Amino acid sequence: MIDVHCHLLPKVDDGSKSWEMSLEMCEVAKRDGVTHIVCTPHANDEYRYDRASHAKTLAELQEKIGNGLKLSLGCDFHFSFDNIQAAIADPKDFLIGEGDYLLVELSDFALSPAVFTAIEKLVAMGVHPILTHPERNMMLQRHANDVLRFAQKGCAIQITANSLTGHWGEGPRKMCHWLLEQKAVHIIASDAHDPKFRPPVMSQAREIVARTYGNEVAEACTQGNPAAVVSGEPLPWFTARRA
Ligand SMILES: [Fe+2]
Repeated sequence: MIDVHCHLLPKVDDGSKSWEMSLEMCEVAKRDGVTHIVCTPHANDEYRYDRASHAKTLAELQEKIGNGLKLSLGCDFHFSFDNIQAAIADPKDFLIGEGDYLLVELSDFALSPAVFTAIEKLVAMGVHPILTHPERNMMLQRHANDVLRFAQKGCAIQITANSLTGHWGEGPRKMCHWLLEQKAVHIIASDAHDPKFRPPVMSQAREIVARTYGNEVAEACTQGNPAAVVSGEPLPWFTARRA
């Protein structure tokens, strides 16, 4: 499995607090069957995103863990006004690896038409947005159809693995299933922050999806699509009903 959303780098945001913790998270991920992690430090009002510095930390971590687990760099990109301007001016700094995928985390409090316009602009520039965990977003929980609108505008939809296992409560768990029924889930990722409470584990979610929606969907969301994301290829499995 490939995990495209993970706060694995040590001491850069509210994820891993130390090198020891990052190494432990790598072990947890490997045991779970994860072969590749995209390290995605936050870019938001609280954490400044310094690509060069993150790349250096990532190289050091890769050196420490060896070849058993591959690491790439991405960004947990908060879709604020300032960030949108920065991405439109030069998206490269925030994309996953050398490809053209961008994690997009929406505000919990507002969903203005300007957000859709910004998404359209980025898509027209050749950026492929990935909407992160809509099932945990308070606005989208109330307006689930809007998630389908994002998919129709070219966004891949990423849900959190432990939303499916109930970590975030019944609301997010049920919304994941609703999205899966609409064929509007394209990627499952851990959004891990530590080895224990929010671990880099995806196998239980994969199992739930395989059992309920079939192995093809589970495989696409945990392997086929994430592999395309890290190599900058079109998603092999991309569907959504109309909102
Ligand atoms: Fe995140």
